[in-house]
Parts: sequence; structure tokens; C-alpha cells
Amino acid sequence: MKFFLDSAHVHEIEYALKMWDLDGVTTNPRHIQASGKPFLTVIREIGSLFAGTDKTVSVEVNPHYTDYEKMVAEGEKLAAISPNFVIKLPATEAGFKAVAELKKRNIRSNLTLVFSAVQALQAMRMGAYYISPFVGWKEANAEETLSFIQDVLAIRDNYGYESEIIVAAVRNGRQIADAAVAGADIVTAGLAVYKEAFDHPYTGVGLSKFQGFWDQTPYE
Ligand code: E4P
Repeated sequence: MKFFLDSAHVHEIEYALKMWDLDGVTTNPRHIQASGKPFLTVIREIGSLFAGTDKTVSVEVNPHYTDYEKMVAEGEKLAAISPNFVIKLPATEAGFKAVAELKKRNIRSNLTLVFSAVQALQAMRMGAYYISPFVGWKEANAEETLSFIQDVLAIRDNYGYESEIIVAAVRNGRQIADAAVAGADIVTAGLAVYKEAFDHPYTGVGLSKFQGFWDQTPYE
């Protein structure tokens, strides 16, 4: 399963590339705003980190757009900046139509804000490259999410759709493991979520015990 970083902080992306062999990046308007840089400036910087690789960077169109034509026009503009860019579109009627129009132009899309299996199915039908079911938001709303991911994957496999499933808005290691057990293609999460998930308190406890024994043992 691939690990994507959900961030627009260049230093975080560089860290994850170096330490974790990061597979790709997803951004959204919140991450772009948090970077403190203008939209085009920061996405160009992120795109340049992936130049010459086949790793993708998902970049979201203006969330105010309700016309698919505007989404397509901005998608074309963004895709021209970097071959690594995948255009993030909302799971709305206009977003679904924009997926199909961008696909005709050989531009890949990532359907975001997906909260139901039927939204995912429609994104598959229209030719989405990635589909991003959000688990964290649903769990915050007391909804169960493992069966949601399983349903999306089952629908994809029943009909042989090619869309890759990115389990998104991931908040903890249990959700990463659930995504892997279900057979999702990718998870995307923030730096802190991965760091916490890669750690376990007993690893530190065990290391400390072993250090004690090591210190009491002659080396030769
Ligand atoms: C995924 O592609 C999204 O950018 C992200 O997971 C959105 O959710 P969050 O910002 O609440 O984590």
C-alpha cells in the first residue's frame, strides 16, 4: 500500500521523502493556506520536488466553482504546471462531469470529499484516477468506516474499474491498518499521524531495558 502525505509544507514533504520513501502528496485548500504561501507558488515548489519521478501530487481546483467548465479550465492550467499533478475535484455533479472531460484531455483526477459508496461508484464510472473516501470525518460523525472502504473496493473490483482508492482524512494508525487489511491502494495522512503510528510505547520501554543490559555487559 502506498503512503501519501497530506500536506503543503515543503519541509514536511522533503522529510517524508527522505525518511519514509514517500509515494506521493495530497493537498487541499486548508494545507495550502497553512503553508503561508500563494497557491501557485507553493504547488510549483511541491511539483519540483517530484520532477522526473512517477509520483503524484494532488492539487485541488477552486472550491467555489460549481460549473464543470471552470473546473476543467483550471484543471488544464494546473496540469500544465507539472506532469506529476493530479487534479482534485469535489464529489459533486459538476465534479463528476469534470472528471470525464479532463480524462478526454488525458488529465488525471482525484475525487475528493467522498462520503458514500455511490459517490465513489459514480467517480469510477466517470473515469477518476484516484478516489478519496474520507474516513476521519465520518468517524468524527460516529459513522463506521471499515465497511465503507470495503464496499468501495468491492464495487471497484466487481466491475474492473481502474480507479485507485486513497483512504483519506486518516487520523491514526488503526485507520491505516484497517485500510491495508481492506486492500486499499493508498492512504493519505498528515506527518504527525504517521509519526505517531510508526511508534509504539513498548518499543521505547524495550529499548530502554536492553540499553541497561547492554551497559552491564563487556563488549569483548
Ligand atoms: C485528502 O486528500 C484530504 O486532503 C484530507 O485528508 C482532508 O481531510 P483533513 O484535512 O480533515 O485531514
